[in-house]
Amino acid sequence: MDRRLANLLPVERWPTAAEAARGRWFTPARLGPLTLEQRTWVPAMVPWRATDQGFVTDEVVAWYRRFAQGRPGGLVIEATGIRDVKSGPLLRAGDDRFVPGLRRLVDAVKEASGGHTRLFIQLIDFLAIKRRPAKDVYFLRHLELTAAHRAQRPGASDEAVRAHLLGLPEEELDRVLSPRELESYRHGLREKVTDTHLPHIAELPRVLPGLFAAAASRCAEAGFDGVELHFAHAYTMASFLSPLNTRSDGYGGSPEARLRLPLEVYRAVRAVLPRERALGCRFLADEIIEGGGRPSDAAFTAVGLARAGIDFLSLSRGGKFEDARVPKVGHTAYPYTGPSGHECMPTPRIGGLGPWGRNLEATRFVRQAVRAAGLETPVVACGGISSFAQAEDALESGAADVVASARQSLADPDWFLKVREGRGAEVRRCFFTNYCEGLDQAHDVVTCQRWDRLQGLPDDATVPRAPDGRRLVAP
Ligand SMILES: Cc1cc2nc3c(=O)[nH]c(=O)nc-3n(C[C@H](O)[C@H](O)[C@H](O)COP(=O)(O)O)c2cc1C
Ligand code: SF4
Repeated sequence: MDRRLANLLPVERWPTAAEAARGRWFTPARLGPLTLEQRTWVPAMVPWRATDQGFVTDEVVAWYRRFAQGRPGGLVIEATGIRDVKSGPLLRAGDDRFVPGLRRLVDAVKEASGGHTRLFIQLIDFLAIKRRPAKDVYFLRHLELTAAHRAQRPGASDEAVRAHLLGLPEEELDRVLSPRELESYRHGLREKVTDTHLPHIAELPRVLPGLFAAAASRCAEAGFDGVELHFAHAYTMASFLSPLNTRSDGYGGSPEARLRLPLEVYRAVRAVLPRERALGCRFLADEIIEGGGRPSDAAFTAVGLARAGIDFLSLSRGGKFEDARVPKVGHTAYPYTGPSGHECMPTPRIGGLGPWGRNLEATRFVRQAVRAAGLETPVVACGGISSFAQAEDALESGAADVVASARQSLADPDWFLKVREGRGAEVRRCFFTNYCEGLDQAHDVVTCQRWDRLQGLPDDATVPRAPDGRRLVAP
């Protein structure tokens, strides 16, 4: 690694075991009906290890077992689909046949953590997105011709209009196509919650509460301690919360209307979840994109959900399609490639104050709004946290009640244990340069660049490896 990059890592003196014990991070926290043994947390990270049919595999079990061995207070299983639809190697909870696999996963984590870690599962709904089409495919097949297109060649046949559009230079297309058509042409067709002319989008408020509730009920049956509703990033529920949601059916427009479906989903899930299980959600402290939600919008969401009785609020940042990089032809847009995506998984290249604790200020603002409303709902903070001092500062300064760490936990799943035992110098530190995120982007099996290097370990033939030789579990 570049030495300058190493110097950017927030390395302070690690605490002794006594100092760690005096801190807050390793003290218990109450999450609704649950007690977390400590305020450490591994948030959801998709490792793309399920089968193409959405079932738990041995590799999925090995991945979470390894996190559990580090005994975080809370561990959230990756975004898991609430529908039973084709979604690649992403876990699903959209049918009863997924329950036995999920139960095996729960049992493995409980065993590996010695029962010390509370296990959550993140439930997600997402809308369809298509690959970016080739120009001829778009103009000759996908584009729905309108009067505006036909006006380009009055009286000509549809075929001639299409052929004409296909021949236009890019600058001309900027003028001729509507913003939505341009987006579908350059980024690939993406369904939005505002596409209410499509019956299945119009009826989302009718179907989603039931789908989330049924999936949550299966997860409870599998033995999870709690459920985290995925209301963050680029997906359906975050799009309902966003100020960009202009639906006119009572589920968009005003802040109250945008919060209506999230509340209905929350209540439907609450109604089926056994009382001893926790129910929380993850949403955005700041959407980052133009016209998107800011911390004040997040505070409104947080207070509304807290008032309704939600057990925890976990805050993320950015990760939107709206500002994602234009994909290559034949590729799908990925919501972590633009400025908002960089805020979601910040690297040392992000500029400004750098990636460390980048979401803390917004999270503190949201938490203060919840406290000002007289509510004690615990708040989970995340983003660029890889040291004890950062976590303590977040807890002491009132930014959070629980402090999460995704990539640092991936680089070294034992790091919480090491810090707690005064062995911080042994922590295998995350470089925050997003090798793992690149794999995620390619929907390739996620691993860490640090697992195969700098270990000084003998080559162990028993270690499970990806086809290209990468270790599949942390050393
Ligand atoms: C490989 C990978 C997969 C991720 N998958 C999810 C996910 O399924 N759900 C989610 O809410 N966040 C997901 N995230 C975002 C992380 O939970 C976290 O918010 C982000 O990495 C910033 O935290 P960090 O700086 O501690 O890594 C993922 C991150 C990575 C690196
Ligand atoms: S691949 Fe890089 S960014 Fe990802 S966890 Fe490992 S060191 Fe951190």
